[in-house]
Amino acid sequence: MGSGGREHALALSLAKTAEVVVTPGNPGIARSGLDGLAISCTDSPAEQVNCDLYVIGPEAPLVAGLADRLRSRGGLVFGPGADGARLEGSKAWMKRLASQARVPTARYATFDSLVPAVEYLRSLPGPYVVKTDGLAAGKGVLVTDSLEEAERDVAAKLSGESFGDAGRRVVIEEGLFGPELSVLAICDGRRAFPLAPAQDFKRLGDGDTGPNTGGMGAYSPVSHVGPEIVEEVMERAIEPLIFELRRSSIDYRGVIYAGLMLTDEGPKVIEYNVRFGDPEAQVILPRAQGDLAAVLARAAAGRLCLEEPDLTSDGPPQVCVVLSARGYPAHPRTGDPIYGIDEARSVPEVTVVHAATALDSSGRLVTSGGRVLGIVGQGPTLKEARERAYRAAGCISFDGLHYRSDIAVAAIAELGGAGGASGG
Ligand code: AMP
Ligand code: GLY
Repeated sequence: MGSGGREHALALSLAKTAEVVVTPGNPGIARSGLDGLAISCTDSPAEQVNCDLYVIGPEAPLVAGLADRLRSRGGLVFGPGADGARLEGSKAWMKRLASQARVPTARYATFDSLVPAVEYLRSLPGPYVVKTDGLAAGKGVLVTDSLEEAERDVAAKLSGESFGDAGRRVVIEEGLFGPELSVLAICDGRRAFPLAPAQDFKRLGDGDTGPNTGGMGAYSPVSHVGPEIVEEVMERAIEPLIFELRRSSIDYRGVIYAGLMLTDEGPKVIEYNVRFGDPEAQVILPRAQGDLAAVLARAAAGRLCLEEPDLTSDGPPQVCVVLSARGYPAHPRTGDPIYGIDEARSVPEVTVVHAATALDSSGRLVTSGGRVLGIVGQGPTLKEARERAYRAAGCISFDGLHYRSDIAVAAIAELGGAGGASGG
């Protein structure tokens, strides 16, 4: 269930071993079906689709209890109920649970009125981090060195002006430093196993400048992250969390996505998400070798077998470049015709993932949201994967098109691969 880039990537991976119906899907997902994959789209709500396994893509329906409704009708569902989805639906609740589980996170406090919030901000050394408690499509976080800006942001959030009810409670945190990493684990309520880590690019502009977004690109593998870091994340940030969820009588079956910062003091969690990352899924899922549909079904049934994991993450390197619309993230413009999809698709080892596209009344493909397309390149090396992704991205045009030119550059340079080649 879903209509974005993550769901397109999920459908492509699930269709390797299953027949996939996506509600509502998007024109790119429908096109994948026409290309001969076992994928179709339907307008029917999930409750009216009969299937052996429901996989819920986005956070909003999870927070709203869709998994509970499907389970109460006897459906097998991959995705947490509303109780577990609070991990993402309320940052304040997440921080409390994480501290009970002794998961390393940033120091923080929660506020719903201005005066104590400002007082707390003034007691911090900075940088200042201000988060909406509720869901804000990845845009509710301000990180700034300016106390003045942080105070203005707190006022706008608490008053409801900037994010409505989602911002009427805020979490204020100390700023952490270090490279970021996304570790996603498949969880069956008791046990979990990790997928390959990925790195996401949250800021809109090159060199991590500009506003926070839902994610402007991603790559995997992440060369500087060895298996020992993934193991540490499982032991310190995922397993204790599952234990704490169970203590709260929460049977969590779905993805636990730990957004981490690799600080001098070790990995610290900056957020948990309750679903696959977007665009992380676009680079992680193609690397997963095995029967994804069967594994998700086993997780949904509470029966993962960890002794012999059926899914390994050692497929070829992947780089995803997100093409965004004019005005994203503040006010994305929609309805701009998109050109060059077929040229992009003809670049070898490239997948054009649709994230926010629609067909207009005359059947033209147009933009329909902020993050429009994800261009995923695959290759024997990260460098080649990146070159393919950018070559294909260069084929696409629409009015206001924007993308970062530095996705995976630093990682490739670190590998000694002259990563700056060919840019955007
Ligand atoms: P979140 O939605 O909580 O992941 O926050 C969005 C982005 O804000 C993260 O990907 C980080 O880049 C940044 N961020 C969040 N929390 C912190 C923090 N405590 N210190 C520094 N940066 C942060
Ligand atoms: N790319 C970040 C997220 O999915 O939340």
